Amino acid sequence: MQHDATSTLPQETGALIDHIIRNYHEMHRADLLSLVPLAERVEQVHADDPDVPVGLAGALEGLARDIEAHMAKEETILFPAMRAGGGDGIQFPISMMRADHDDHAQTIALLRQLTQDFTPPEHACGSWRSLYAGIATLLEELAMHIAVENNVLFPRFEPTA
Ligand SMILES: [Fe+2]
Ligand SMILES: [Fe+2]
Repeated sequence: MQHDATSTLPQETGALIDHIIRNYHEMHRADLLSLVPLAERVEQVHADDPDVPVGLAGALEGLARDIEAHMAKEETILFPAMRAGGGDGIQFPISMMRADHDDHAQTIALLRQLTQDFTPPEHACGSWRSLYAGIATLLEELAMHIAVENNVLFPRFEPTA
């Protein structure tokens, strides 16, 4: 997995936030917009296949809902407060966002389980394969996104213990 090397991230906080929104928030939205209907199609077309990932489209929809609500909170509350310089009141929204990040892990585990770690069966068609590859890429990007926020952005506004 390729990590967003800390050295290549924009230094200034406003520019770092712009980078997160453009490269992660907008990308996740675009990815999920195509992956949810693709998962629905694969589940429908292969409904009689014993290897069909039953519940995958629903799990992806759940992830889309959860991360959309989370990203909207960052974009409307936390990031504007950070752009304004932070302050003591920012500790609570940061801890809420860290808790959301931990919660995403449950859905990610479910997606891994439903796709056998993104491994399509031998006989899988092209759509099925590109669905699993797309989910694997989305989750790699989500992991990088969370790492940049948890390890680079948020600590700038947290008291050092
Ligand atoms: Fe984010
Ligand atoms: Fe986040």
